[in-house]
Amino acid sequence: TRKVTTHRLMEMKQRGEKISMLTAYDYSMAKLIDQAGMDVILVGDSASNVMAGNVTTLPITLDQMIYHGKSVMKAVQRSLVVVDLPFGTYQGNSKEALASAIRVMKETHADCIKLEGGSEIRESIERILCAGIPVMGHLGLTPQSINKFGTYTVRAREEAEAQKLIDDAHLLEEIGCFAIVLEKIPAELAARVASELSIPIIGIGAGGGVDGQVLVMHDMLGINMGFSPRFLRRYANIGEEITRAVQAYIEDVKTQDFPNEKEQY
Ligand code: KIV
Ligand code: NA
Repeated sequence: TRKVTTHRLMEMKQRGEKISMLTAYDYSMAKLIDQAGMDVILVGDSASNVMAGNVTTLPITLDQMIYHGKSVMKAVQRSLVVVDLPFGTYQGNSKEALASAIRVMKETHADCIKLEGGSEIRESIERILCAGIPVMGHLGLTPQSINKFGTYTVRAREEAEAQKLIDDAHLLEEIGCFAIVLEKIPAELAARVASELSIPIIGIGAGGGVDGQVLVMHDMLGINMGFSPRFLRRYANIGEEITRAVQAYIEDVKTQDFPNEKEQY
């Protein structure tokens, strides 16, 4: 049960062992996921959607990400923990980006941060790396740019966008990112990036030719029941289980079946 490090992810890629990664936002779930043996836990800004009920990831604040990061860190013993920098805390001003990353590291004690984008945010990434904070990149469908894209469909199908993604991936490796998430792009393109780069490439909706996979916990557990894109595999129907349990409890309260004689003092 050695703690997973960024260095170890690199070794896993070298020996062809696939990297498992899943999101978590709270203490109780992070504890289960860590103890199950997950390599990487992502405190994703998808918390904006699945925890706070927002339509996009844009509204979540740095304070809110830090709250989730702290909760997760209290539970985790083995997994590498990555915290997303939220929208508006790192684009455009590299000093502000560094200040945001430092707050996450100091207040949550997480292992590293993730942010979305390539050449546009090069300065921000370089400044964060200079402070000794490991950075995971994120290219392809980057949900913080949904208002630019206009849709959540597959990215980089066209030659120009695919070429920019390849260039950005190489740039992120050159400046020192330890891994990159590729979201919702053609499998062939993702496999090409994974073979050209020596840092691990973790895919979501990017096929099997990459070095690891990441999913949003609520999606793969069937808690978020309305969301079923092609790339999602459901490992449980927890939403249905919760509904069944809650309805049984309501029924037992109404019929005075609960509590019984053994369930009181
Ligand atoms: O916030 C998130 O959950 C993510 C994953 C989809 C990679 O960034
Ligand atoms: Na994210």
